[in-house]
Amino acid sequence: MFPFEKFIRERLTEKRFRHSVNVARAARWLAFKYDANEEKAVIAGMLHDITKEWKVHEHMAFLHNYNIGVTSYEYSSKKLFHSITGACFVNIILKIPDMDIFNAIRFHTTARAGMSKLEKIVYLADFISEDRCFGGVDKLRALASFNLNDAVFAGLSDTIQELSHNNKIIHPNTLNAYNEHILVNEKEKSLQIGEYYISKCLSTKSLKKSVFI
Ligand SMILES: [Fe+2]
Ligand SMILES: [Fe+2]
Repeated sequence: MFPFEKFIRERLTEKRFRHSVNVARAARWLAFKYDANEEKAVIAGMLHDITKEWKVHEHMAFLHNYNIGVTSYEYSSKKLFHSITGACFVNIILKIPDMDIFNAIRFHTTARAGMSKLEKIVYLADFISEDRCFGGVDKLRALASFNLNDAVFAGLSDTIQELSHNNKIIHPNTLNAYNEHILVNEKEKSLQIGEYYISKCLSTKSLKKSVFI
């Protein structure tokens, strides 16, 4: 039995309850695979959608009561409310003070640049949980089993394509996470190319002379 199982079963529909358990299971698997904290991964996975079934006015009342601000991007996409109220609910009501769990829930919808390993794990677990059946999910699961960053990037890329295809707003956090991955990859590539040329140059006698004499 996972932590908070009884708690979420009483508050969510059966479908959402099953989804939460599946996300927790996927998050635990990823945490094991990528050497992250499995306990935190399970808790964040179980609770990531804890407020998903709230009505808009319930989200608004909660945000108002606790004086929590939302950006215009979040305001324009009500789907994003549950990641904000969910993280705050877990922190304030359930009194789980862990900031990594907070951020993993807070950014499980949009992602963001500079995500922690736990944030990436919960973001990805939400994509590849057993109950997901969108086209390409098996490919994403396969990718998730050998490269966490590339799998997160594939999730970001799919999300951006789908949102732009439907003329929906793309949250800046999602774009920042996407751009960050490309920049890091380019930097790694150019470093590899640089190292390759330096080692090639140093292997020639003349350069060895000019450098070391
Ligand atoms: Fe969610
Ligand atoms: Fe979810």
